[in-house]
Amino acid sequence: MDPAAPAVDMERLQGFVGKVMGDIGGAFALLLSYMGDQTGVFRALRDHGPCTVTQLATAAGVDERYLREWLSAMAAGGYVEYRPADETFAMTPEQAIVLAAEGHPACMQGFFQMVVSQFATHDQAVEVFRSGAGRPWSAHHSCCFCGTDRFFRAGYAASLVDAWLPALDGMVGRLQRGARVADVGCGHGSSTVLMAQAFPASRFVGFDFHGPSIESARGKAAAAGVGGNTEFVVASAKQIGPAGFDLVCMFDSLHDMGDPVGVARRVRDCLAPDGIFMLVEPLAGDRLADNLHVLGQLFYSASTLVCTPTSRAQEVGLALGAQAGEKRLSAVLREAGFTGVRRVAETATNMVLEARP
Ligand SMILES: C[S@@+](CC[C@H](N)C(=O)[O-])C[C@H]1O[C@@H](n2cnc3c(N)ncnc32)[C@H](O)[C@@H]1O
Repeated sequence: MDPAAPAVDMERLQGFVGKVMGDIGGAFALLLSYMGDQTGVFRALRDHGPCTVTQLATAAGVDERYLREWLSAMAAGGYVEYRPADETFAMTPEQAIVLAAEGHPACMQGFFQMVVSQFATHDQAVEVFRSGAGRPWSAHHSCCFCGTDRFFRAGYAASLVDAWLPALDGMVGRLQRGARVADVGCGHGSSTVLMAQAFPASRFVGFDFHGPSIESARGKAAAAGVGGNTEFVVASAKQIGPAGFDLVCMFDSLHDMGDPVGVARRVRDCLAPDGIFMLVEPLAGDRLADNLHVLGQLFYSASTLVCTPTSRAQEVGLALGAQAGEKRLSAVLREAGFTGVRRVAETATNMVLEARP
């Protein structure tokens, strides 16, 4: 051992091992939670109420022996309750929200799905990390796309129509009267559909370069009954048009793009003279030191695995990252020719910038 090496503090060592063991347990809990979601076990347990393994296996239609092991792990991890007196399992109302309340902002199943997708393609992650190559959005497991949509959708449902659009100068009135709106990097189109439902007199075009996502967006719009005032186009963000949009929105997509300045320039060119660019990005402080907390860990992790390699796989490859922060994002918008840039809203996870030509 190097005699100059700092002495190991055994208490701190034990503390850190304990923290990491908890994280390993969390990684298992995440995969087991995904299994519980996909097989309907969480929903069955929530709907049934306290029950034995045998009762739950029947209700969910899964193998009883595996379920016993799964429930034991979930009870040990605090994801379900175990009642030794009658050997039953149950979920508290809070566990039921986080694990089984589809559409609730606190439901984590979409997030689980996204992270599980990264484990499924871990070889690619290691390779890209080593070589520095880009990794196109389309190279990810399909769970990455539907997990992203599933997780983000609840946040958009909670804030987009009720808080973010009203924060834009005069925009709600324009949308009520009838406006042209573009949603760039729309993914599965949940944000587009929410706006189209709220403002039937307006027309919404969702653009994304990922064909399967656009297919899914079309299906979602039809199912939501907004096929008439929505359109979804497979296109790179630098090819959006025709010009004259009253509002262009981007939800958690600018930082994924290779050339955010070029894209923002194209957005500016496509806006009507009094049009507004609404940029929704992950919440972040401007310095790494501001982001050293759980949310920062989650965003930097997703950014290492998905956002940064996605940007690098495109022209320019600026690689803004998912924690770029308001100062850096505003600089991108100003470089693209926007003069009026201001922060108009934020939630626990997102910030909303308004930019005017
Ligand atoms: C993190 S996802 C967000 C999707 C959606 N806006 C949402 O909030 O659920 C980023 C999206 O940006 C799209 N994207 C990335 N670069 C793009 C580009 N250059 N042109 C068009 N779409 C792009 C991806 O295909 C993906 O759907």
